[in-house]
Amino acid sequence: MGPADPERSAAQLTVVGLGYVGLPLAVRAAEAGFTVTGLDTDEQRTKQLSSGSSYVEDVPDARLLTALNSGRLQMCANYQEVAGFDICVITVPTPLRDGAPDLRCVEDAGRSIAPLITPASTVILESTTYPGTTEDVLVPLLEAGSGLIAGMDFHVGYSPERIDPGNAEWTLETTPKVVSGIDDRSLQAVKSFYDQIVARTVPVSSTRTAELTKLLENTFRQVNIALINELAMCARPLGVNIWEAIDAAATKPFGFMPFWPGPGVGGHCLPIDPSYLSWEVRRRLQYDVRFVSLANEINERMPEHVVDRVEKGLSRPLAGTTVLVLGLAYKKNTGDVRESPAVALTQVLARRGARVRAVEPHADLRLISDDVLCVELTEDEVRSADAVVVATDHDSFDYDMVEKHAAYLFDARNRCRGAVADCL
Ligand SMILES: NC(=O)c1ccc[n+]([C@@H]2O[C@H](COP(=O)([O-])OP(=O)(O)OC[C@H]3O[C@@H](n4cnc5c(N)ncnc54)[C@H](O)[C@@H]3O)[C@@H](O)[C@H]2O)c1
Repeated sequence: MGPADPERSAAQLTVVGLGYVGLPLAVRAAEAGFTVTGLDTDEQRTKQLSSGSSYVEDVPDARLLTALNSGRLQMCANYQEVAGFDICVITVPTPLRDGAPDLRCVEDAGRSIAPLITPASTVILESTTYPGTTEDVLVPLLEAGSGLIAGMDFHVGYSPERIDPGNAEWTLETTPKVVSGIDDRSLQAVKSFYDQIVARTVPVSSTRTAELTKLLENTFRQVNIALINELAMCARPLGVNIWEAIDAAATKPFGFMPFWPGPGVGGHCLPIDPSYLSWEVRRRLQYDVRFVSLANEINERMPEHVVDRVEKGLSRPLAGTTVLVLGLAYKKNTGDVRESPAVALTQVLARRGARVRAVEPHADLRLISDDVLCVELTEDEVRSADAVVVATDHDSFDYDMVEKHAAYLFDARNRCRGAVADCL
């Protein structure tokens, strides 16, 4: 047994979990010449994808269809159909449950693929998780279910995903990818796979290092956003516009990196990943990573703070007012409403008695709560609202029209940058 042969471009790849991470990887691998089976336990998803309809904005239908029509990509919902894979990449969710890592999807996927592992194959975990998961959680499941020995009979590695939904410049292909293995041969197998998928791989010495690398990246971001959010809350009473101060600081060519305030953090990463890190550190070292708890506390307070500012700006209680919220996704130009601070903001508004109407052109409206009526962005909607709040600054919104017709405009993203809007 040796490392995967880079020449073997017809290798059978299975991608387990076809979401924001798994689907782009499956399509990219098919384009790179692999024979790919995308597996998802959600049969509705696999049926939709098989018909050429994508639910991930970074994978347009045309690209999905080309991959399907090439004959190198197929979808399935049954593990038996992927028996005999050469490489299997696991990209399933790793949420929190009661504040603790919930690895049930990783464990289910591990248990399901274990009996299908053949000698010399490679299993790679991409799901974000705490250091030690690959070696302490996944490997025992794979060995128990396969009767084989990891490292000796098959390869195992971890490679964190850095996908940034909506980012056209830094894509799966162009973003350097950290790769690791449980031993040298596993590392070579993992590296030679991703060398065919992305422009640059970055090998590290252990799966634990690769797991921590991902948590470091996201904790760095979560903490810096919290710092700026806290400063934003203090700057205005001090008579300073925080955005102007950040712009000025960002002219320093070294030692400073700009982060921007907003209504909080959302998505599958920033509100969750740092807690994976602090949970593991607390469990193993009985040590509290205070930066993480503090950053969570500050970021979680932001929706309430934005609503306080809107109430102050209106100079009246919110009860009985109509508030139009622009954008519900956690990030601009995407439809991802998971953990979205914009959704939290609508809930605070509703709790204070406001009639909440919201515009979210990118998301499935059924995902939004009962308290919020989803509407189109029209002049009438803007005119009839007591306040308009920019929560997520999608490029598709007509900001000129909003500025012109809003009775009161609060811009939590400072997109308008005009004299008309109040901002953080
Ligand atoms: N979304 C991002 O921007 C992003 C970026 C980097 C890393 N990650 C990490 O990647 C992982 C996946 O995230 P995502 O955003 O792609 O999740 P997602 O919810 O978009 O997709 C996950 C998919 O896995 C499927 N699934 C769940 N359990 C399964 C099982 N046992 N077998 C087969 N399929 C199963 C679900 O049906 C779903 O379609 C997470 O650990 C996340 O933290 C996400």
